[in-house]
Amino acid sequence: MNPKMTAMDAARALGQSEAWVHLKLQEYALSYSKSQNQIYFGARSAQRIFQYHFDPKVIAFQIVKGGTGKTSLVYEVAVRASLYGAKVLCIDMDQQGNLTNAFNQNAETIPVMVDSLLEGYNLQDCIVNVAERIDLIPSRIENAMLDEAIRLKKLSLETVYRIPFQHLKSQYDLIIVDCPPSLGQSVAAIALAADKILAPVTLEKFAISGLEVTEQSIRELQENYGIEISLGIILNKFDARSLLSQETLQRLKRQPKYQNRFLKSFIRLSNEIPNATANNRSIFDVIKSTYAKQDVDSLTQELLEIIPIVVDSGPVSDTVLIPNL
Ligand SMILES: Nc1ncnc2c1ncn2[C@@H]1O[C@H](COP(=O)(O)OP(=O)(O)O)[C@@H](O)[C@H]1O
Ligand SMILES: [Mg+2]
Repeated sequence: MNPKMTAMDAARALGQSEAWVHLKLQEYALSYSKSQNQIYFGARSAQRIFQYHFDPKVIAFQIVKGGTGKTSLVYEVAVRASLYGAKVLCIDMDQQGNLTNAFNQNAETIPVMVDSLLEGYNLQDCIVNVAERIDLIPSRIENAMLDEAIRLKKLSLETVYRIPFQHLKSQYDLIIVDCPPSLGQSVAAIALAADKILAPVTLEKFAISGLEVTEQSIRELQENYGIEISLGIILNKFDARSLLSQETLQRLKRQPKYQNRFLKSFIRLSNEIPNATANNRSIFDVIKSTYAKQDVDSLTQELLEIIPIVVDSGPVSDTVLIPNL
C-alpha cells in the first residue's frame, strides 16, 4: 500500500496553486514523486504541507447490518485522513477481522482487544503500524468473546473503553472503530466512549431496519446513562439513477428521528471500492481522480472538519491553515 495525495488535490484544499505545493515540497525537502505529469506525495510529506491541527476524536462506524460499508469506509477514510497529515488509529472490533485483512495484517501473534480486557494487556501493546501515519489494533476470532469478557470481569460499560481512548487521543488525531454488525455490551461500551457514531446505510430494506435498531439502541443508552451520543448517518452505495433510492432517501430524511443526522457527504455506488480492497490496496493508491475518491474525500474532510479554502486569485500566501474546529 502506497497512498498518494496529489499536488492538485492539496492545492485545491489549501486554496493555493499546484506550483505553490511543488515549491513547498522542495523548500521543506520533502519526498514526492511524479507520474503521468502529476506530482504526488505520502502522509509524512502531507503533514508538513497541510500543517493542520486536528481536534482528536473517536468515531465508531456502527450499524446492526453487515455489508453497508463499515469496513470499507473506515479503511478509506483512514487512508485519506492520513493524506491530510492526520495521525490515525484504526480499531478492528469485528471478530471477522476484515479491516485487519484489508491492511494485510494477521493478528495471530498480537494481543487484540479481548486480550486487553481478559489478560490486562495495555491497548498500547495491541497497536501495529500499517502505513505512514496509520496504526491499527487488529482483530481475530477471539474477539467474539468481547461481550463475555466484559461480563466476566464485571467491567463498567461507561468506562471500559472511555479511559483507554482518552489516553489514545493524546497520541492520535483520529481514532476510527470498525464495529461488528451486532449489538451487545462491547458495541454499547464503544458507543458510550466514542465522540461520534457513524452509521453507514444503504437504501435497502434490511439496512434501513438495521439503522432503526441502531438508532433505538443508542437512544436507550442515552436514557440509561444520561449522556449525549452523537449519531450521524452516512449514505453509502448511493445510485442517483434509481428512483426507488431517491424516494427511500426522501422518506428516511423526513422521519424526525433521522432529521439532521445525515452527513452532507454521501458515497456513490462504485466498483472502485471493492476492486481496490480485493487487491489489498486503497482507492488512494491510484492518483487518477474518480468520483469514489471525491466522495471519500468529502466524507474525510467533513469528519476532520477541514474547510477547503476557496480563493479567486491574489498573492500567494504562506499562512498556516487551521481547520474550523
Ligand atoms: N460505495 C460502494 N460502492 C460499491 N461497493 C461498495 C461500496 N462500499 C462498500 N462496498 C462493498 O460492499 C461490500 C460490503 O462492504 P463492507 O465494508 O465489508 O461492509 P460491512 O463492514 O458493513 O460489512 C464489500 O464488498 C465492499 O467492497
Ligand atoms: Mg465489516
